[in-house]
Amino acid sequence: MKSVILGMAVFGWMLAGSAMAVDMPADGKAKCGACHAIDTKKIGPSWKDIAAKYSGKADAEAVIAANIAKGGAFGWKMGNMPPKGMGATDAQIKSLAKFIVELK
Ligand code: HEC
Repeated sequence: MKSVILGMAVFGWMLAGSAMAVDMPADGKAKCGACHAIDTKKIGPSWKDIAAKYSGKADAEAVIAANIAKGGAFGWKMGNMPPKGMGATDAQIKSLAKFIVELK
């Protein structure tokens, strides 16, 4: 009985683990995915690296949103980001900025 309970706990943990694996929101895939990934560098920096750059800064979300909207270079030396990525709306930019700051 004990092992059954343990087995169920492990199974539940595995399910929770896979549900928690971060995936880019659909808007991100459509408007940013050509150049960004969560964990790896592509044409632009990985979103986890960006989250790390801003970690602990109180105004991170606002700064990131403003930078996405205006585009350009932010010191990554990877080139220039087009303003609003590939045509993201202000609402999408806001929610993606929040998504990025919350990455660990
Ligand atoms: C055409 C390619 C391209 C697209 C599309 C693109 N980016 Fe970028 N992005 C870049 C590059 C290149 C950089 C790094 C610029 C530099 O070297 O400083 C960057 C940097 C960033 C940064 C870092 C800002 C900072 O302050 O350090 C954020 C955040 C970001 N992108 C978010 C997004 C989001 C969100 C989208 C979609 C709405 C998006 N990007 C779409 C190329 C792109």
